[in-house]
Amino acid sequence: MKKSKTLISLATAAILSMSLAACGNGAGAEEGPAAAKSEFKISLNQTEEHPNYIALTQFAEKVEERTEGRISMEVFPNAVLGAQQETVQMVSNGSVDMASLSGTQMTNLNKDFQVLDMPGVFADTDHQAKVINNQDVVGDLYRSVEESQNMVVVGGYTQGERHMYNGDKPINTPADLAGMKIRIQESDLQIRMIEALGGEATPMAFGEVYTGLQSGVLDAAENNILSYYTTRHFEVAPYFSKTNHLIGVDLLVINADVLEGFSDEDEAIFREEYLASVEHFNSVWEEMNQEAQKKTEEGGAQFNDADQAAFQAILTKFAQESLATETQLAIYEQIQELR
Ligand code: GCU
Repeated sequence: MKKSKTLISLATAAILSMSLAACGNGAGAEEGPAAAKSEFKISLNQTEEHPNYIALTQFAEKVEERTEGRISMEVFPNAVLGAQQETVQMVSNGSVDMASLSGTQMTNLNKDFQVLDMPGVFADTDHQAKVINNQDVVGDLYRSVEESQNMVVVGGYTQGERHMYNGDKPINTPADLAGMKIRIQESDLQIRMIEALGGEATPMAFGEVYTGLQSGVLDAAENNILSYYTTRHFEVAPYFSKTNHLIGVDLLVINADVLEGFSDEDEAIFREEYLASVEHFNSVWEEMNQEAQKKTEEGGAQFNDADQAAFQAILTKFAQESLATETQLAIYEQIQELR
């Protein structure tokens, strides 16, 4: 439900005039439009070379420019503000304004997000692109956590195809996963997915995976090629097997009070520039993936094509059994119509 922007603006104006009065005419006092400027933090768990950082940083610059500094955002990479599971809570309670969160994390807040995080839902990334920023399909889902968690999903960037990697051998069929401790993102759906494939699911924060693989706490992990490269997981798990078991999404979430504080005009700019950033992200994504494969191969990684049909045979059944609610089924149907 929308709160009154007028009330919030009045409150903001009151606080602002009090703090300006407190500053007096001293060195800290600001005048003109800069006085109304607000700084917002975006939490990201990727490095500065990842396209998420590149696209979000340019998004921040464009919004700041077009709003004449009324919305100023800074992207904090490398999970310095916290791992995704913590930042979900931080966005909810307002201690962080925005975060790039894997769709997986959202399934822990509202199970209906499962429909975006399920194997086989998307034919490919082009199909996914028709969905993840399409308000007719995902608009209600993206607003579904406003009341309960005080946050709203703005939109999404693709994570591309996710594959498996380990330090022991190429994976060809699901049978090769038997007895392997495989790191997955922290969610019930992901745990059950690995179990359905015959592996041992080990949920863990993204930032802990390198040492997990290195120390043997984990045998394997799964991710896209780009993250495999930027995290340098290839150094400790050189067998990269293209299983394409899932096409994931990274969602930009914003604290609902922060969004509410934007004027209608600024919110429109914010949303327009986010959509422009999706285009920007997509324009660098493919090339950077190819580059990542080349660089990891130079670093010793060995790629193989797994028997994707064998994976899909299990995962299609798994997905059908996992679509739990009427909302999920309805969104799933809409997604399939866009294939
Ligand atoms: C991808 C994704 C991240 C996510 C990570 C993970 O790299 O972009 O948002 O955290 O996978 O496996 O945890």
